[in-house]
Amino acid sequence: MEAAAETSAGQDAPAPPPRLPWTVRLQLFGLVAAAGVTMRRDGTVNRSLFNLLDRRARASPRPDKSGVRSTDVDVDASRGLWARVFSPSTAEAPLPVLVYFHGGAFALLSAASSAYDAMCRRFCRDLRAVVVSVNYRLAPEHRCPAAYDDGVDVLRHLASAGLPGDVVSAPLDFSRCFLAGDSAGGNIAHHVARRWKASPADSNPIRLAGVILVQPYFGGEERTEAEVKLDGKAPVVTIRGSDWAWRAFLPEGTDRDHPAAHVTDENAGLADGFPPAMVVIGGLDPLQDWQRRYADVLRRKGKAVRVVEFAESIHTFFFFPVLPDSGRLVAEMKAFMDEN
Ligand SMILES: *[C@@H]1O[C@H](CO)[C@@H](O)[C@H](O)[C@H]1NC(C)=O
Repeated sequence: MEAAAETSAGQDAPAPPPRLPWTVRLQLFGLVAAAGVTMRRDGTVNRSLFNLLDRRARASPRPDKSGVRSTDVDVDASRGLWARVFSPSTAEAPLPVLVYFHGGAFALLSAASSAYDAMCRRFCRDLRAVVVSVNYRLAPEHRCPAAYDDGVDVLRHLASAGLPGDVVSAPLDFSRCFLAGDSAGGNIAHHVARRWKASPADSNPIRLAGVILVQPYFGGEERTEAEVKLDGKAPVVTIRGSDWAWRAFLPEGTDRDHPAAHVTDENAGLADGFPPAMVVIGGLDPLQDWQRRYADVLRRKGKAVRVVEFAESIHTFFFFPVLPDSGRLVAEMKAFMDEN
């Protein structure tokens, strides 16, 4: 095995780990192919082509079988900022609010992409929370910090206007507001929490009770051991793809040691009130070393951090409800939210 992997050092033949069901492999292949043909070498994205390949779901204001309904809410129409809000049609007690940031290398996918629509619907049902899935602006058309600005503005909007009664009939508990995201969305959730805590608004009903970072995209100029070891061997994330994403997202003229990516720099400011964090790490994710270092930095700064490791998990495992870790993730999120 080892020797075979050594000799097939070609970058174009990533071998998926052996235990994935074929349905998952097929979907992964589609995802990687769609990204591959639309992310251009010059750092731009062929949007019309990606939009063709990206399967989307509409919001559905009528409750589904589990009583969850969804509505798209405009936050700032002038820049096309909106969020898809998922809520249970009935609730006995006020519900926590989970503000979610989807993944996609900072440049792809949306709150309407069917995988995220399904995932947020599931979060709403199983976590008993109102989920606000943010359709932040994408790179490279909108570089850092546009996505962070959008996240903060969604929180401001929730703080000042709340959510209309025809969107959410259940009472909301803004003192239990969680920020969550996966991959690039995990990076965004971290920075939005950091910014929100650094400049709290007066008389603001929102209290950040926790951040949930699922395989967050952090990095730096250094190549870590896992990046090198898993490059071309684990699906989805490659060094070449990551470099592309950082070039598309980070301000022009900067490198991957920019504080948006390199959050493990000890000098990267963390406000005193940074909320308790849960960090989910996959053993087959090339980004895992950065995520462990991030958890260590939080710990050293005295922050509460819960690390959840799934040894067999690839990047984006949670897209696939057939993978047992996907169900375990929701259970871990529920436990974290109940604690905070
Ligand atoms: C995007 O890709 C499609 C299909 O390959 C191609 O026909 C189209 O010209 C591309 N658009 C741009 C603006 O490059």
